[in-house]
Amino acid sequence: AMAYETILVDKRDKVALVTLNRPKALNALNTQLMKELVTALTALDTDDSIAAIVVTGSEKAFAAGADIKEMQGKSYADMYREDFFSEWEGLVRVRKPIIAAVAGYALGGGCELAMMCDFIIAGDNAKFGQPEITLGVIPGMGGSQRLTRFVGKSKAMDMCLTGRMMDAAEAERSGLVSRVVPAANLVDEAIKAAEKIASFSLPSVIMAKDVVNRAYETTLAEGLRLERRMFHSLFAFEDQKEGMAAFAEKRAANFKNR
Ligand code: CAA
Repeated sequence: AMAYETILVDKRDKVALVTLNRPKALNALNTQLMKELVTALTALDTDDSIAAIVVTGSEKAFAAGADIKEMQGKSYADMYREDFFSEWEGLVRVRKPIIAAVAGYALGGGCELAMMCDFIIAGDNAKFGQPEITLGVIPGMGGSQRLTRFVGKSKAMDMCLTGRMMDAAEAERSGLVSRVVPAANLVDEAIKAAEKIASFSLPSVIMAKDVVNRAYETTLAEGLRLERRMFHSLFAFEDQKEGMAAFAEKRAANFKNR
């Protein structure tokens, strides 16, 4: 296994738990952490023993944003030449589901990282925000685009312009997170959700993720057409026969991922 310094990777039965681990900096997302996270998630994506991934932080902070101290001294030329933040796009190429389990602060890049995952389960102490405006900048890892699609223009404007935080209840009400659970149970609940996903046929899971994501990228007519074609294509897999036979025979399905 590869040794990481800023994250922990714990492989369980079909589910991997990836923990951001820069506690002294509230998991601020520096370049090393980004590279390690993209590398780890890319490796898990092609690891046949893993079917779903949970990304979490600590109880105090999922991540308090991009590393301000790392960015502080950079020039425009540095940022442009490095195409700063572009490597995060590696996360959205992962085909297997990634659940963000968010406790505490998910600010700036932390909120943006959570939104790059497929859905967010929040602990009841979670706080989301895009405070970049307080630093004289704006979101740079997708916040202005993804947050607006998740919660609508009015709330996204409010968050990006005032820098205020949203608590877990508001985040759930607004559609930013899918569920809120007691912070003490957060990781267990997220792993349970990942295990549930991992119990299904992986081709159908990957296609479900793919078609939902297409809803953000294409027209309704094209999305519906793609969905229908993908639905048809699942009939090429033995698992469709198994899943439907199991229903008819009133027994649990035994998926083979074939
Ligand atoms: N970058 C670098 N270091 C950070 C950090 C960040 N984003 N957030 C926290 N830290 C560090 C602090 O500097 C502090 O380090 P020292 O002990 O060496 O001083 C340590 O983590 C603990 O933080 P605090 O003492 O500030 O903890 P707190 O409990 O008093 O406050 C907080 C918590 C409200 C989250 C506060 O840390 C904070 O406001 N952090 C910055 C939030 C922010 O502005 N995020 C946006 C970053 S820019 C960005 O993300 C751009 C983008 O779009 C990708």
